[in-house]
Amino acid sequence: MTSQAEAAGTAVEGCVFIGLSVDGFIARLDGDLEWLTDRGEAAGDAGFRDFVASVDAVLMGRGTYDVIAGFDRWPYQDRPVHVLSTSMTPGEDARVTVHGDLEDALAALARDGRRRVYVDGGRAVQACLAAGVVREMTLSRVPVLIGTGETLFGPLPRDVDLKHVRTEVLGGGMVQTTYAVLPREDEDD
Ligand SMILES: NC(=O)c1ccc[n+]([C@@H]2O[C@H](COP(=O)([O-])OP(=O)(O)OC[C@H]3O[C@@H](n4cnc5c(N)ncnc54)[C@H](OP(=O)(O)O)[C@@H]3O)[C@@H](O)[C@H]2O)c1
Repeated sequence: MTSQAEAAGTAVEGCVFIGLSVDGFIARLDGDLEWLTDRGEAAGDAGFRDFVASVDAVLMGRGTYDVIAGFDRWPYQDRPVHVLSTSMTPGEDARVTVHGDLEDALAALARDGRRRVYVDGGRAVQACLAAGVVREMTLSRVPVLIGTGETLFGPLPRDVDLKHVRTEVLGGGMVQTTYAVLPREDEDD
Protein backbone atom coordinates (compact mmCIF):
# COMPACT_ATOMS: atom_id res chain seq x y z
CA MET A 1 0.00 0.00 0.00
CA THR A 2 1.38 3.44 -0.80
CA SER A 3 1.14 6.46 1.50
CA GLN A 4 -0.82 9.53 0.35
CA ALA A 5 2.49 11.32 -0.18
CA GLU A 6 3.56 8.65 -2.62
CA ALA A 7 0.15 8.60 -4.23
CA ALA A 8 0.49 12.33 -4.78
CA GLY A 9 3.80 11.60 -6.49
CA THR A 10 5.90 13.43 -3.93
CA ALA A 11 8.36 12.82 -1.19
CA VAL A 12 6.81 15.39 1.17
CA GLU A 13 8.36 14.95 4.61
CA GLY A 14 6.03 16.18 7.32
CA CYS A 15 7.74 17.62 10.40
CA VAL A 16 5.88 18.33 13.62
CA PHE A 17 7.06 20.92 16.15
CA ILE A 18 4.52 21.31 18.90
CA GLY A 19 4.07 22.07 22.56
CA LEU A 20 1.95 19.92 24.82
CA SER A 21 1.07 19.08 28.39
CA VAL A 22 2.57 15.99 29.95
CA ASP A 23 -0.85 14.35 29.52
CA GLY A 24 -0.73 15.02 25.78
CA PHE A 25 -2.96 18.05 25.14
CA ILE A 26 -2.11 20.93 22.79
CA ALA A 27 -4.89 23.32 23.88
CA ARG A 28 -7.76 23.44 26.35
CA LEU A 29 -11.15 22.69 24.85
CA ASP A 30 -11.93 26.43 24.83
CA GLY A 31 -8.67 27.07 22.94
CA ASP A 32 -6.80 28.48 25.96
CA LEU A 33 -3.01 28.18 25.62
CA GLU A 34 -1.86 30.13 28.68
CA TRP A 35 -1.00 26.94 30.57
CA LEU A 36 1.58 26.36 27.78
CA THR A 37 2.80 29.87 26.99
CA ASP A 38 3.25 30.88 30.66
CA ARG A 39 5.26 27.78 31.47
CA GLY A 40 7.11 27.86 28.13
CA GLU A 41 8.28 31.45 28.53
CA ALA A 42 11.46 30.43 30.37
CA ALA A 43 12.41 28.26 27.37
CA GLY A 44 12.61 31.28 25.07
CA ASP A 45 11.49 30.37 21.56
CA ALA A 46 12.60 26.76 22.21
CA GLY A 47 14.22 26.58 18.77
CA PHE A 48 11.06 27.55 16.87
CA ARG A 49 12.68 30.20 14.66
CA ASP A 50 15.47 27.85 13.56
CA PHE A 51 12.90 25.13 12.96
CA VAL A 52 10.80 27.39 10.71
CA ALA A 53 13.97 28.38 8.83
CA SER A 54 14.58 24.66 8.19
CA VAL A 55 11.27 23.95 6.42
CA ASP A 56 10.16 24.59 2.85
CA ALA A 57 6.49 25.17 3.63
CA VAL A 58 3.83 25.01 6.36
CA LEU A 59 0.65 22.89 6.35
CA MET A 60 -1.85 23.51 9.14
CA GLY A 61 -5.44 22.82 10.06
CA ARG A 62 -8.02 25.59 10.05
CA GLY A 63 -8.27 25.48 13.87
CA THR A 64 -4.62 26.47 14.13
CA TYR A 65 -4.92 29.02 11.32
CA ASP A 66 -7.81 30.72 13.19
CA VAL A 67 -5.53 31.24 16.20
CA ILE A 68 -2.40 32.31 14.29
CA ALA A 69 -4.34 34.69 12.04
CA GLY A 70 -5.17 36.73 15.15
CA PHE A 71 -1.53 37.13 16.24
CA ASP A 72 0.22 40.48 15.80
CA ARG A 73 3.15 38.77 14.09
CA TRP A 74 2.99 36.15 11.31
CA PRO A 75 5.56 33.60 12.56
CA TYR A 76 6.32 31.69 9.36
CA GLN A 77 9.00 33.97 7.87
CA ASP A 78 8.55 33.84 4.08
CA ARG A 79 7.48 30.19 3.95
CA PRO A 80 4.37 29.37 1.90
CA VAL A 81 1.49 28.44 4.23
CA HIS A 82 -1.16 25.91 3.23
CA VAL A 83 -4.35 25.42 5.27
CA LEU A 84 -6.57 22.33 5.37
CA SER A 85 -10.21 23.38 5.57
CA THR A 86 -13.58 22.46 4.16
CA SER A 87 -15.14 25.68 5.46
CA MET A 88 -12.71 28.47 4.47
CA THR A 89 -13.13 30.23 1.16
CA PRO A 90 -10.00 30.03 -1.01
CA GLY A 91 -8.55 33.54 -1.35
CA GLU A 92 -10.06 34.96 1.85
CA ASP A 93 -6.52 35.44 3.24
CA ALA A 94 -3.83 36.12 0.63
CA ARG A 95 -1.14 34.77 2.96
CA VAL A 96 -2.42 31.19 2.69
CA THR A 97 -3.54 28.59 0.17
CA VAL A 98 -6.62 26.60 1.21
CA HIS A 99 -7.13 22.92 0.42
CA GLY A 100 -10.30 20.92 1.05
CA ASP A 101 -8.41 17.68 1.61
CA LEU A 102 -4.96 16.34 2.41
CA GLU A 103 -4.39 14.72 -0.96
CA ASP A 104 -4.94 18.04 -2.73
CA ALA A 105 -2.55 19.79 -0.31
CA LEU A 106 0.16 17.17 -0.81
CA ALA A 107 -0.20 17.37 -4.57
CA ALA A 108 0.19 21.17 -4.46
CA LEU A 109 3.25 20.96 -2.20
CA ALA A 110 4.79 18.37 -4.53
CA ARG A 111 4.08 20.51 -7.61
CA ASP A 112 5.85 23.41 -5.92
CA GLY A 113 8.84 21.23 -5.00
CA ARG A 114 8.29 21.67 -1.24
CA ARG A 115 9.83 18.69 0.52
CA ARG A 116 10.29 19.44 4.24
CA VAL A 117 6.88 20.60 5.44
CA TYR A 118 5.95 21.83 8.95
CA VAL A 119 2.64 20.15 9.85
CA ASP A 120 0.70 21.90 12.63
CA GLY A 121 -2.63 21.45 14.40
CA GLY A 122 -4.07 18.42 16.16
CA ARG A 123 -6.36 17.16 13.43
CA ALA A 124 -3.88 17.98 10.65
CA VAL A 125 -1.08 16.12 12.43
CA GLN A 126 -3.34 13.12 13.02
CA ALA A 127 -4.34 13.06 9.33
CA CYS A 128 -0.69 13.25 8.24
CA LEU A 129 0.38 10.52 10.67
CA ALA A 130 -2.41 8.25 9.45
CA ALA A 131 -1.41 8.98 5.84
CA GLY A 132 2.24 8.10 6.49
CA VAL A 133 3.47 11.61 5.68
CA VAL A 134 5.17 12.54 8.98
CA ARG A 135 8.92 11.93 9.14
CA GLU A 136 9.98 13.86 12.25
CA MET A 137 8.34 15.05 15.46
CA THR A 138 9.70 17.49 18.01
CA LEU A 139 7.48 17.41 21.09
CA SER A 140 7.99 20.04 23.80
CA ARG A 141 6.24 19.03 27.01
CA VAL A 142 5.64 21.57 29.75
CA PRO A 143 5.37 20.21 33.28
CA VAL A 144 1.63 20.24 33.85
CA LEU A 145 -1.39 17.94 33.59
CA ILE A 146 -4.50 19.70 32.30
CA GLY A 147 -6.80 16.69 32.27
CA THR A 148 -8.72 17.41 29.11
CA GLY A 149 -8.29 19.37 25.88
CA GLU A 150 -7.46 19.07 22.21
CA THR A 151 -5.38 15.96 21.68
CA LEU A 152 -2.32 15.68 19.49
CA PHE A 153 -2.66 11.97 18.89
CA GLY A 154 -5.62 9.79 17.98
CA PRO A 155 -6.61 6.56 16.26
CA LEU A 156 -4.18 5.22 13.66
CA PRO A 157 -4.59 2.59 10.97
CA ARG A 158 -1.40 0.92 12.24
CA ASP A 159 1.41 1.44 14.75
CA VAL A 160 3.92 4.17 13.92
CA ASP A 161 7.47 3.23 14.92
CA LEU A 162 9.64 6.04 16.26
CA LYS A 163 13.36 6.43 16.80
CA HIS A 164 14.56 8.72 19.57
CA VAL A 165 16.88 11.41 18.17
CA ARG A 166 17.46 13.82 21.06
CA THR A 167 16.06 15.08 24.33
CA GLU A 168 16.90 18.38 25.98
CA VAL A 169 15.60 19.97 29.15
CA LEU A 170 14.89 23.66 28.47
CA GLY A 171 14.01 26.53 30.80
CA GLY A 172 10.99 26.09 33.03
CA GLY A 173 11.37 22.31 32.93
CA MET A 174 10.19 22.02 29.33
CA VAL A 175 11.37 18.65 28.00
CA GLN A 176 11.94 18.75 24.26
CA THR A 177 12.28 15.45 22.43
CA THR A 178 12.78 14.83 18.74
CA TYR A 179 11.76 11.52 17.18
CA ALA A 180 12.33 10.27 13.66
CA VAL A 181 9.32 8.42 12.27
CA LEU A 182 10.57 5.17 10.83
CA PRO A 183 9.38 4.19 7.36
CA ARG A 184 6.81 1.43 7.25
CA GLU A 185 8.10 -1.98 6.20
CA ASP A 186 6.11 -1.73 2.95
CA GLU A 187 7.63 1.69 2.17
CA ASP A 188 10.83 2.44 0.29
CA ASP A 189 12.66 5.33 1.95
N1 LIG B 1 0.37 23.50 21.59
C1 LIG B 1 0.77 23.89 20.40
O1 LIG B 1 1.98 24.01 20.11
C2 LIG B 1 -0.27 24.10 19.32
C3 LIG B 1 0.10 24.08 17.96
C4 LIG B 1 -0.90 24.23 17.02
C5 LIG B 1 -2.21 24.42 17.42
N2 LIG B 1 -2.52 24.44 18.73
C6 LIG B 1 -3.91 24.62 19.16
O2 LIG B 1 -4.67 23.51 18.71
C7 LIG B 1 -5.98 23.94 18.38
C8 LIG B 1 -6.29 23.57 16.93
O3 LIG B 1 -6.12 22.18 16.79
P1 LIG B 1 -7.26 21.29 16.16
O4 LIG B 1 -7.28 20.01 16.88
O5 LIG B 1 -8.50 22.09 15.99
O6 LIG B 1 -6.70 20.92 14.73
P2 LIG B 1 -6.36 21.69 13.38
O7 LIG B 1 -5.78 20.62 12.54
O8 LIG B 1 -5.56 22.91 13.60
O9 LIG B 1 -7.76 22.19 12.78
C9 LIG B 1 -8.81 21.31 12.55
C10 LIG B 1 -9.56 21.79 11.31
O10 LIG B 1 -8.66 21.77 10.18
C11 LIG B 1 -9.33 21.25 9.05
N3 LIG B 1 -8.71 19.94 8.74
C12 LIG B 1 -7.82 19.23 9.49
N4 LIG B 1 -7.48 18.10 8.85
C13 LIG B 1 -8.14 18.10 7.68
C14 LIG B 1 -8.18 17.21 6.57
N5 LIG B 1 -7.46 16.07 6.55
N6 LIG B 1 -8.98 17.52 5.54
C15 LIG B 1 -9.70 18.66 5.54
N7 LIG B 1 -9.70 19.56 6.57
C16 LIG B 1 -8.93 19.27 7.61
C17 LIG B 1 -10.78 21.16 9.43
O11 LIG B 1 -11.30 22.46 9.18
P3 LIG B 1 -12.80 22.75 8.64
O12 LIG B 1 -13.68 22.54 9.84
O13 LIG B 1 -12.75 24.16 8.17
O14 LIG B 1 -13.05 21.75 7.56
C18 LIG B 1 -10.71 20.89 10.92
O15 LIG B 1 -11.89 21.26 11.61
C19 LIG B 1 -6.02 25.45 18.55
O16 LIG B 1 -6.58 25.73 19.82
C20 LIG B 1 -4.55 25.84 18.52
O17 LIG B 1 -4.27 27.00 19.28
C21 LIG B 1 -1.59 24.29 19.69
